[in-house]
Amino acid sequence: MLAKVPTVKLSSGYKMPIIGLGTYVPNEKCHEVQQAVKWGIEAGYRHIDTAMVYRNEGQVGEGIASKIKDGLVTREELFITAKLWIDKHAENDVPYTLKQSLFYLKLTYVDLYLINWPFSVDDCQEDAGIDYIDTWRAMENVVKLGLARSIGVSNFNKEQLERLYTAAEIKPAVCQFEISPTLTQHDLVNYCKQLSIVPVAYCPLGLLSNSRKGKGKDLIKTDPKLGELAQKYGKSRVQIGLRYLIQRDITVIPKSTNKLRIQENFNLFDFELAKEDMDIVDSYNLNLRCLPGRGFSNLKNFPF
Ligand SMILES: NC(=O)c1ccc[n+]([C@@H]2O[C@H](COP(=O)([O-])OP(=O)(O)OC[C@H]3O[C@@H](n4cnc5c(N)ncnc54)[C@H](OP(=O)(O)O)[C@@H]3O)[C@@H](O)[C@H]2O)c1
Repeated sequence: MLAKVPTVKLSSGYKMPIIGLGTYVPNEKCHEVQQAVKWGIEAGYRHIDTAMVYRNEGQVGEGIASKIKDGLVTREELFITAKLWIDKHAENDVPYTLKQSLFYLKLTYVDLYLINWPFSVDDCQEDAGIDYIDTWRAMENVVKLGLARSIGVSNFNKEQLERLYTAAEIKPAVCQFEISPTLTQHDLVNYCKQLSIVPVAYCPLGLLSNSRKGKGKDLIKTDPKLGELAQKYGKSRVQIGLRYLIQRDITVIPKSTNKLRIQENFNLFDFELAKEDMDIVDSYNLNLRCLPGRGFSNLKNFPF
């Protein structure tokens, strides 16, 4: 019998599992995603994070459909997040784009729909300069249409969140941004909590991930202090890092396409870090982004 995943209640009234499976992979590895989703659901994940821009919603949809068909889960037990890409911010594009995602995901609604970034581009990839408040009106509309249960944003900074929150009729339920032991983001996390917006951590492994090189800042992968903590709790360094985020009331969406690492990343609920050990993990902060979004830095509303 699998452990039940703890959930957090969103401002929309719906519950979100506090760990989800990330699904971003480079295009050439797209075919691995369907199997990863199946392994994830078998391991106990009930929350899957996808995005239109990953171009693998079809793979995610197949994985979900096969586990529903097996009888392992029902649609209602799953929490699926999709995201609106930056070239679809025009109000009329939003419901159409979500319907397209739903088609690939083989779903009739998503649990959470996010504006992926606060900036926008047109068909020629030039700055479209669409105000995200206008896009938000269309996001509110997809809730009213029953296409999304909750809505939120991603990669918004504090000023952008404040402006959106003030203008919103339906308040954003979630803000997804980069948070990890090497990018602790205390200010933005605290601000989200003040507004009852749940922070969701992408790239939650930070420099603990086997695919990230910190240009000489790989200390966290080898530092004996973190090794001692891992030994003390009988867990891996990555599990210590993910547990640290969960204990800060941050939802995590680690990605793996490896069966054992998918299971490893989920096994976070049978131990608790002591306060002094939370402080140790916190001390690895380097304020270093894995995803600085440099290619977009010339666009209006670039958040970093
Ligand atoms: N909203 C946004 O703008 C945004 C941006 C980026 C990401 N995201 C979402 O957030 C998810 C997570 O972020 P991410 O994929 O960039 O980074 P991540 O989850 O922090 O790290 C993923 C990388 O770490 C490796 N890894 C996974 N588990 C591991 C473990 N236990 N030990 C060592 N290495 C491990 C994975 O390789 P293996 O697969 O080989 O295990 C993969 O290379 C994405 O997949 C996506 O769904 C959202």
